[in-house]
Amino acid sequence: RQAGAVPNDDLLRIARSVAEEAGALAARLRREGVEVAATKSSPIDIVTRADRAAEDLIRGRLAELRPDDGFLGEESGGASGTSGLTWVVDPIDGTVNYLYDLPNWSVSVAVVEGDPDPSTWTALAGAVAAPALGDLYTASAGGGAHLHDRPLQVREPVALDRALVSTGFHYTQEIRSNQARVAGPLLARVRDLRRAGGAAIDLAYVAAGRTDAYFEQGLNPWDQAAGALLVREAGGVVTGLADERPSSRMVLAGAAPVVEELRDLLAELGA
Ligand code: IPD
Ligand code: CA
Ligand code: CA
Ligand code: CA
Repeated sequence: RQAGAVPNDDLLRIARSVAEEAGALAARLRREGVEVAATKSSPIDIVTRADRAAEDLIRGRLAELRPDDGFLGEESGGASGTSGLTWVVDPIDGTVNYLYDLPNWSVSVAVVEGDPDPSTWTALAGAVAAPALGDLYTASAGGGAHLHDRPLQVREPVALDRALVSTGFHYTQEIRSNQARVAGPLLARVRDLRRAGGAAIDLAYVAAGRTDAYFEQGLNPWDQAAGALLVREAGGVVTGLADERPSSRMVLAGAAPVVEELRDLLAELGA
C-alpha cells in the first residue's frame, strides 16, 4: 500500500457508517412497501428500488470520503481507483428475505487491497449491518471481529456429525441442481442444515458462534467480502475446495477442523 496509508480503524469507521446509513435507508423504504423493480440472471433473481438506492447512497458517500479508491458494487458495477484499495459493496444481501419481510438481510461493505477478487485480495475492514435483526457486525484486519461492542469467536470445533451447517442456493438452475444433489446426502452427515441467508449474515453467524460452519457455491465478491473477514478475525478459516482459496466456485467457513471435514465430504459428494 502507498506511503501514508490509512489505518484499518479509519477504514472500519467509514465502512460501519455507510453500512449503517444504507441499512437505515433500506429499512425505511421497506416500511413504505416493496416491489420487484427488475429481474437479473433468472426470474427469481430480483432487484428492488431499495437495492439501487442503498448502493447509490454508499457509492456517493465513498466518492466524497475516499475519492481515490476503487468501487465494486452488485447493482452499479465497478470503477478502478489509484490507491490500491477497493470498496466491495452488497447494498442489500438477502433481497429475497427483504422482499418477504424476513429479517435476515444486511448491507455488506468491505474495503480490500489488491484486485477485487476474493481468491487474491486482502480484506482490511468490513461491516455487515442487519437493521431488521438489530445486529451490526464489524471487523478489521488484526483488530478482531465484533457484534456491536462484543468481541466474536467462532464455536469450539465439533465433529461434523454434530455440526450445525448453513448454506445458500444460487439463482441459476445450473448451480442449484448441483447444490440440491449435494444437500441430500450431506443432511445425513451433519447435525442439521440451515438456509437463513443472506451470505453475509450466514458468515457473520459463523463468526458469532451461532453456527458451526457455512458453505456456498456461486458467491460473488460482494456476498463474501465483509463476512469472510469477520470469520477470520473471529478465529475461523475461510477456504475453497481442496487447497483452493475462496472463490465463486466455493466458499467454506468455520473453525479449521470443521472446515477440513466438511471440505473432504463436499469433495467426496462431488460438489
Ligand atoms: C444472495 C444471498 C443468498 C445467497 C445467494 C446470494 P443477494 O445475494 O446472499 O443468501 O444464497 O447466493 O446471491 O442477491 O440477496 O444480494
Ligand atoms: Ca448478495
Ligand atoms: Ca444484493
Ligand atoms: Ca442480488
